[in-house]
Amino acid sequence: MTGFADDPHHAEDLHAWHVLSPLLDAGGYLPWGTGAMRPAGLVLVCNEIMYANRTTIVECGSGVSTIVLARLLRQRGAGTLVALEHDAAWAERVADLLRREELHEHARVVHAPLEGDPPWYATAALAGLPEAVDLLIVDGPPAYAAGEELRRAPALAHFEPRLAPGATVVLDDLARPGERAVLAGWEAQTPWRFRVEESAGVAFGSRS
Ligand SMILES: C[S@@+](CC[C@H](N)C(=O)[O-])C[C@H]1O[C@@H](n2cnc3c(N)ncnc32)[C@H](O)[C@@H]1O
Repeated sequence: MTGFADDPHHAEDLHAWHVLSPLLDAGGYLPWGTGAMRPAGLVLVCNEIMYANRTTIVECGSGVSTIVLARLLRQRGAGTLVALEHDAAWAERVADLLRREELHEHARVVHAPLEGDPPWYATAALAGLPEAVDLLIVDGPPAYAAGEELRRAPALAHFEPRLAPGATVVLDDLARPGERAVLAGWEAQTPWRFRVEESAGVAFGSRS
């Protein structure tokens, strides 16, 4: 049995907790689970928001990352985030956490059931999203189960028309073969090129 301390990225995540502490201390308890983005990845996303002045953010797959990023946007006083969520009950929980912290001006959750083959967020739910997204975070739909490893592949084609010039696309879970294959497909079929941050398990991409 392996424990948290045996994780090869334990040190990076521990450091990231310290870096994130102003945001973790800025509200109530957050229900971190194994599905949440690793702290090391979340720090890199926060840095991207700060350094590149990202203000129009969409996240595929909501959770504690949505709350932490909303707290960052509130502290910073600029930017909004919309999170797409396929699971109605989870969407309501995350929306409730946002409301309790009065973060709803900075972030909102849009319930978007999965549809089609391969299943992806209902395109009708995309209609209300912002037009010039400058940061797209792809951390959903869930893609850990056998046969569902490539579920995140449709994201780039669906969002391409909405991405602002100079936008960044972040893909999480690069430790998994499925997300590696998604990234390889995007690079083979599109002008998007990605830098993999191995120690955080995330990739950052821009149009070449
Ligand atoms: C990879 S998770 C997204 C996590 C989110 N971006 C974060 O870092 O917190 C993908 C999906 O798992 C589900 N999920 C995430 N956290 C969950 C939790 N604690 N309990 C139940 N479902 C969860 C949601 O449906 C979410 O869209």
